[in-house]
Amino acid sequence: MKGTGMTSQKKLLISRKAIANRVKELAAQISRDYVDKNPLLVAILKGAFIFLADLARAVDYPVQVDFVRLRSYGAGTTTSGEVHITKDVELPIKGRHVLVVEDIVDAGLTLDFLLGHLASHQPASLKICCLIDKKERRQVEVPLDYVGFTVEKGFLVGYGLDSGENLRTLPDIYEIVE
Ligand code: IMP
Ligand code: MG
Repeated sequence: MKGTGMTSQKKLLISRKAIANRVKELAAQISRDYVDKNPLLVAILKGAFIFLADLARAVDYPVQVDFVRLRSYGAGTTTSGEVHITKDVELPIKGRHVLVVEDIVDAGLTLDFLLGHLASHQPASLKICCLIDKKERRQVEVPLDYVGFTVEKGFLVGYGLDSGENLRTLPDIYEIVE
């Protein structure tokens, strides 16, 4: 069955152990940087939900979380450039220290759009934490403040990343190979 991962080959790229170690390191850095700042972690649905859950719990103190959902028009594995918000943040972000949590940055269009939207609400600070910085197809430079892993290219699944809504819940990250 196409798209279910039943037939496509996948290659283990980042193990759950490597992810857990890196998430711990990122959380330690975030804990230091945001101490006494009452940060608000804003995750982009759906892909970032697992990363957010692990990251937020690894921060040394309780943090607030919120979610946005974005739709980018384009078929298959590429983005077209047009991004819409289908679910906005619900907590007021004016004056807050906002840390956007994203699964993977590819063209950069999704984050570029979201940053502009969030910035218009005047947060005290606005930074980005992404698990994976995928470099090859970047179209817009976005400032990535915290990066888990850098990859050059490839289509990845697992740990929140999906292929047509499939394979999101795999605990490790795989590259789909044709
Ligand atoms: P972009 O940076 O505007 O291209 O959009 C990034 C979004 O595209 C991510 O949040 C994912 O939802 C999706 N995406 C990009 N690359 C991958 C991938 O390798 N696997 C799964 N989703 C991806
Ligand atoms: Mg995403």
